[in-house]
This record gives sequence, structure tokens and C-alpha cells, in this order.
Amino acid sequence: MNEKLRLLVLFGGRSGEHEVSLMSARSVLGALDREKYDVIPVGITKEGRWLAGPHALEAFTAGEFTDLVPVTLLPDPSRRGLWRWEGERLQPYAAVDVVFPVLHGPFGEDGTLQGLLELADLAYVGAGVVGSAVGMDKGIFKDVMRAHGFAVSPYLVLTRGEVEAAAEEVAARCEAQLRYPIFVKPANLGSSVGITKAHNRQELLAGLRLASLYDRRLVVEQGVDAREIEVSVLGNEAPVASVPGEIIPAAAFYSYEAKYEDEASQLVIPAALSPAKTEEIRQLAVAIYQAVDLAGMARVDFLLEKTTGVCYINEVNTLPGFTQISMYPKLWEASGLSYSELLDRLIALALARYDTRRRLRRER
Ligand SMILES: Nc1ncnc2c1ncn2[C@@H]1O[C@H](COP(=O)(O)OP(=O)(O)O)[C@@H](O)[C@H]1O
Ligand SMILES: [Mg+2]
Repeated sequence: MNEKLRLLVLFGGRSGEHEVSLMSARSVLGALDREKYDVIPVGITKEGRWLAGPHALEAFTAGEFTDLVPVTLLPDPSRRGLWRWEGERLQPYAAVDVVFPVLHGPFGEDGTLQGLLELADLAYVGAGVVGSAVGMDKGIFKDVMRAHGFAVSPYLVLTRGEVEAAAEEVAARCEAQLRYPIFVKPANLGSSVGITKAHNRQELLAGLRLASLYDRRLVVEQGVDAREIEVSVLGNEAPVASVPGEIIPAAAFYSYEAKYEDEASQLVIPAALSPAKTEEIRQLAVAIYQAVDLAGMARVDFLLEKTTGVCYINEVNTLPGFTQISMYPKLWEASGLSYSELLDRLIALALARYDTRRRLRRER
């Protein structure tokens, strides 16, 4: 390759995982091979403004945006690439070959950004619109898992409206169908934001109200006394699974604090599992990945019940935490793929998927 690939790296974003995204982006930007890529860093503020500049990440980390250039992508494929605002006019800013959304949660990982990138006719890292959206919505995701016959812990999907109208009634319905401890989650978030583990009616009510602050739809599910096992999957049509890893949370569950602020949570790589269990979980991870039509990458998270050995699928993360010490890249490292090789593979997969889609017939 003599021409460098022009790679747009997006970070920050409007979700509650803005700061997590900055951490992931620091590792990604630090490891990209500048001989291969012309990197265009663009931060998205919490309000949704797109700001570019060679030092955009440092500027975002410092909360100092004045030297950055406002930019945008257009949904019109005849106006590809990044445009800059000059007052009220648009001027070309940079051509783009591939986009790497290093964004977690809503407006980045949930199919919305992916829709824009499809309209803009750009190749991008990770799952497409449907895979991203299904992966993000914990309720729909569980419905799909159940339809495919994968084991999911018993759950209910509720709306904020129901909780506001009759919280006690909703709680009674949960208790009739699920055993404590009960996890209450907003359907569309990540990083454990808004999630509670309830042990009684009072905590359940508080959890329902808390989750309602974050989403219109809630998922309420039966707690499993389980080991948390995660697998990294990589690929498009023929995905492959890494060795499994295990999370040993420092807190009562793997909360936001346990994930990012508490040093005592541990990653065990590879997870201590029998060869047979390891194989079962890796195959399960690939089957789940394909059932949701994922692409590029995803981390597939399981709850391995201690008493029964049943492997419940908990969730998939289509843009998982991506710092050098995050589970997704660590599992690949343990499987023989270095962090920067992983970035190369993801970018190659993005281009391959773009090519496949371009070859589709559009007319009748
Ligand atoms: N059904 C469950 N049984 C036991 N623990 C759970 C259950 N659901 C969630 N947890 C705990 O809560 C954490 C966060 O829940 P998760 O669904 O993974 O949300 P997030 O998308 O925020 O990571 C999990 O890592 C696990 O520790
Ligand atoms: Mg999780």
C-alpha cells in the first residue's frame, strides 16, 4: 500500500460513557500505525457538536474546545468526507476512507451513528445499524436470544410510563415472575449506569424509579449467582472467538465504580475453565454474534451459573471498552493478536464489509 488510509477517529459523544470513550480513544490514537494511517481525530461534545483538530483528544480531556474546528458529515454521498463550518458556510475539511467510532452507548454504539455513516457512504469499524441497535437494547436483545434458544435469565420488559402510573403494581408483577435478587436496568445504556440490584420490594421500587430516569424502557431480570465470563469476537462473515476471560468484580456487582474507579476489580485471562467449557463458550459467543448480524467486533458477556454450569447470555457490546487494559483487546492479546494488529484487522474488516455492501444490487 503506498497511499495512506485516511482514518476518521470519533470519540466523546452524547452518552453517559463520554469519559470512558476518551479513555478508549487515548489508547487507540496512541497505537495506530501512522505509516499506514492519516488519522483525523474528531471529538463529539456532550451536546453533540463535532470538533476537529490534531490535538482534539487532549482538548477534550482538558475541556478546552476553543482551538478546535467545527466539522460535520453529510448524508449525501456526493458530498463525502468531512466538512468544516466557516461561519454559516461549509468547506471541505478532510477526505475520509474509514471511520472508527470509538464511542460507547447511545448515539455511538446503538445504530444511530451507523445510520449516518451508511447514508454518508463511508466504511466504518464495527456492527451495522441492526446489529448495533439490537446489541444496545437489552430488552430486544434478550427477545432475540430467546427466539434463537440461547439461555437467558428470566426477565420482563417494562416502560417508564407503567412505572410512573403504578409502581407498586409493577413491582408486584416483577415479584410474581422473578426471584430476588432482581436487577433493574435501563434498556439502552451501558457501563452499569442506572442499574441496581434489588433484594426486596423497597429496593426494587427505588431501582425502577432510578432506571426510569435514564430510559423509556426498562429491563427487570432475575439475578444469577454466576461467574462473569467474557469472550471477544472478531470478524464479518466468518467470526472467530478469543480465549474467554473472567471478571472478578470488587463490588456486589460490576457497577460503574467497580469498572472504572475501583482498582480491585480483576480480569482473569484466560478464565479458569475446563477445555470443554471453554470450547462451549467460544462457540456460543460466535453463534450469538451471527444471530444478531454483528460485524467487525463485539464482546459477548455471559453469566456462568455457579450451581448449574448453565451459561446465560447477559449482553453483547458492539463497541466495547478499548483501552490497552480493557477486556476486549486483552483477550485478543492472550489469543496472540497484539493491540495494534487488532486495530489493523478491524480497519480491514470495515473496508471488506463496505465492499461487500457496495456490490449489492440497488435496483430491481
Ligand atoms: N441477571 C444478572 N445476574 C447477576 N448479575 C447481573 C445480572 N445482570 C447484571 N448483572 C451484574 O450487573 C453488571 C452490569 O449489567 P450489564 O447488563 O452487563 O450492564 P452494562 O451494559 O451496564 O454492562 C454485570 O456485569 C453483572 O455484574
Ligand atoms: Mg456489562
